[in-house]
Amino acid sequence: MITNEFWLDRWNTGRIGFHENEVNQSLIQYWPNLPLGSRVLVPLCGKSNDLIWLVEQGYDVTGVELSSLAVVEFFGDNDLAYTTEQTAYGKLHSANEMTLRVFEGDIFDFDGKVFDACYDRAAMVAMPSTLRQSYVEKVSACLREDAHILMISLHHDGNIDTPPFSVSDDDVASLWQRNIHKIASEDLVQTNSRYKESEYAYFEESVWRVLPDEL
Ligand SMILES: C[S@@+](CC[C@H](N)C(=O)[O-])C[C@H]1O[C@@H](n2cnc3c(N)ncnc32)[C@H](O)[C@@H]1O
Repeated sequence: MITNEFWLDRWNTGRIGFHENEVNQSLIQYWPNLPLGSRVLVPLCGKSNDLIWLVEQGYDVTGVELSSLAVVEFFGDNDLAYTTEQTAYGKLHSANEMTLRVFEGDIFDFDGKVFDACYDRAAMVAMPSTLRQSYVEKVSACLREDAHILMISLHHDGNIDTPPFSVSDDDVASLWQRNIHKIASEDLVQTNSRYKESEYAYFEESVWRVLPDEL
């Protein structure tokens, strides 16, 4: 059973293999051209540098992250001064000189609205299957109806009890029930030496655009 304590412990013991030092290439390649100032939600953001990249493109960015250590490391690693306010549901940390804030707390307690877009990398796959539909509903409730979502998910034949959890194409379709497009896919067992030696027979990373039905 994956609890919030599981994630806090991962951060506290430095087991954050999911963290990328570089900006995610799929984000750079596939992020849509939205109006400057668009409000972008990044659920389960960790200390991802993708947040900074999105701000640099001219967006107003809000991350949501459970771990206070992740938040402190994010602002510290990027030399960003910030202020913190206590809200009813968690702490809100706002960068002083950037259109960037991170809500420190559980995504299910986040009450932010109404976002124009969402970037999900390794967020849905961090949710156990029992919480996945609730996660999708929660994120959807934070977004405009015509919001643009870019999502990076994983489908693999490894352990089903620990993250990253495998999410199939059918899962994505039934979870989102929107206009979904798989725009890229790569089996990392074939292309990445780190996975070639692993226990996986396949480890497929897919990039999805999730759009409102009429688009
Ligand atoms: C697999 S990591 C991905 C982090 C980030 N998206 C990235 O690309 O590096 C999942 C993150 O979600 C956070 N997390 C897990 N459950 C959460 C929840 N219920 N609410 C907010 N954050 C959560 C974890 O602390 C962890 O940092």
